[in-house]
Amino acid sequence: MRFFPIDRENNVLNLKKVVMKKDRKLLIAGNWKMNKTVAESLDLVQQLVRELHQVKEVDILISPPFTALGEVSKKVIETNIRLGAQNMSEHTGGAYTGEIAAEMLKEFLVRYVILGHSERRQHQEESDSLISKKALTAHAASIRPIVCVGETLEQREAGVTNDVVGSQIKGSLAGLTSEQMEETVVAYEPVWAIGTGKTATAEQAQQVHAFIRSVLAELHGSSVANQVRIQYGGSVKPANARELMSQPDIDGALVGGASLDAKSFSEIILNSI
Ligand code: PGA
Repeated sequence: MRFFPIDRENNVLNLKKVVMKKDRKLLIAGNWKMNKTVAESLDLVQQLVRELHQVKEVDILISPPFTALGEVSKKVIETNIRLGAQNMSEHTGGAYTGEIAAEMLKEFLVRYVILGHSERRQHQEESDSLISKKALTAHAASIRPIVCVGETLEQREAGVTNDVVGSQIKGSLAGLTSEQMEETVVAYEPVWAIGTGKTATAEQAQQVHAFIRSVLAELHGSSVANQVRIQYGGSVKPANARELMSQPDIDGALVGGASLDAKSFSEIILNSI
């Protein structure tokens, strides 16, 4: 008798999670980083179009280097593959040597931009406040930011993962309206799992994703938080994609190494459906 109401409650909760999950279409994105010439990019994208043209269940995104965006854009224009950029200036134009503005990306039909990747936080010393400026600039140009957060191994071992990720979320998404928040993607990428072959377990990832959603709910209310897609990134491969993607708060993947190969990126997507 005692257990019946509790079980029923759990069932209702589980059902709710499934329904909410279905509301959020998976977004699986490739981050090509500083790889691929134009010719190599075209070769990869042609294979991807061939392998993935029938996929409707998942939103597919590729993020080639800036130099290949123009040519790749022509190949994906009438396909189900969307284009992302790996970075963008917080400024809209002017005397900023070496920078790329949102309007320049829009010329190539770029729909998303990866911001605050841990490699940029580390090597270019990007701060939360810079990332939030970039996110606002992206929204002003109707480009959806994919804002990356994640703890280092040292931080995880010190037990401060939630503190670190929570403060990155608050800082990097500062100033966004709730409407903009709904159109923002968050990528949880534990630094220790990027390019190392060490994936967070589905359980570890789910815990942080649920925490991120609770922080978003604190900032914007739960109905907004439930709209936001939270991707997992860090050594995602065909063998672990299904388990990760089936977690209630994991809404896609940001894939580095495995997105450089048409077969493995396609398998990640096909295994996630
Ligand atoms: P990885 O990179 O898949 O090679 O670990 C992920 C990322 O940096 O986005």
